[in-house]
Amino acid sequence: MRRIKSIFILFMLSLCLFTVSSCRKTEKKEETLTDYMVLVNKQSKLPEDWESRIELVDVYTSLDQTYKVEKKTAEAYEKLRQALYDEHIIIALDSTYRTVTQQQEIWDEFLVEYGEEYTKTYVAVPGTSEHHTGLAVDVKVVKDGVIIDENDDMTAEKELFSKIHAKLAEFGFILRYPVGKEDITGYGAEVWHFRYIDSVEIAKEIMDKGITLEEYLQTKQ
Ligand code: DAL
Ligand code: ZN
Repeated sequence: MRRIKSIFILFMLSLCLFTVSSCRKTEKKEETLTDYMVLVNKQSKLPEDWESRIELVDVYTSLDQTYKVEKKTAEAYEKLRQALYDEHIIIALDSTYRTVTQQQEIWDEFLVEYGEEYTKTYVAVPGTSEHHTGLAVDVKVVKDGVIIDENDDMTAEKELFSKIHAKLAEFGFILRYPVGKEDITGYGAEVWHFRYIDSVEIAKEIMDKGITLEEYLQTKQ
């Protein structure tokens, strides 16, 4: 009887361990569902099940605004922001995750304010924006106490943004729409739009070579 009892206890123990280890595996799988190298552009649309593969978190800024950002992107952004702050460079979030409806609102606003040509150059058609991924962040800068958030004004801040761009890769970000690569990315240069790819090594390669995500992925095919 004692022997049967021991066998029963052993059986229950191994059942528990099996359950725990399979739970761990499921958690691990869910953690890695986000494809941080995903390519979203005019030719490559957002995967249909994308929303179920990301975890969005709220990021509160010192300017009293709240932004939704993919979890690891948010953590990396905070480290980037702090590292720049330590060098007396102030960046703040300006636009992050967007729903298709929010992208449509931006598209409509730009169309009224700047016309079709400019809108097509700087705003993705709703449903094709990298902002839908939660992995993209647009920043604004604060210089001499003044917020600079207009596209042209930020583009004019060449020295400031080159210091910011030099720090991106260290935290797993790349500059997504560089100058001179408009034909490849399909968009005008955006000094403010950073994309998290979750690999410092690949981010460094992309930034050191001055290439786009499209070009990097092409070399890996
Ligand atoms: N400004 C980028 C291209 C977007 O709208 O997603
Ligand atoms: Zn952007």
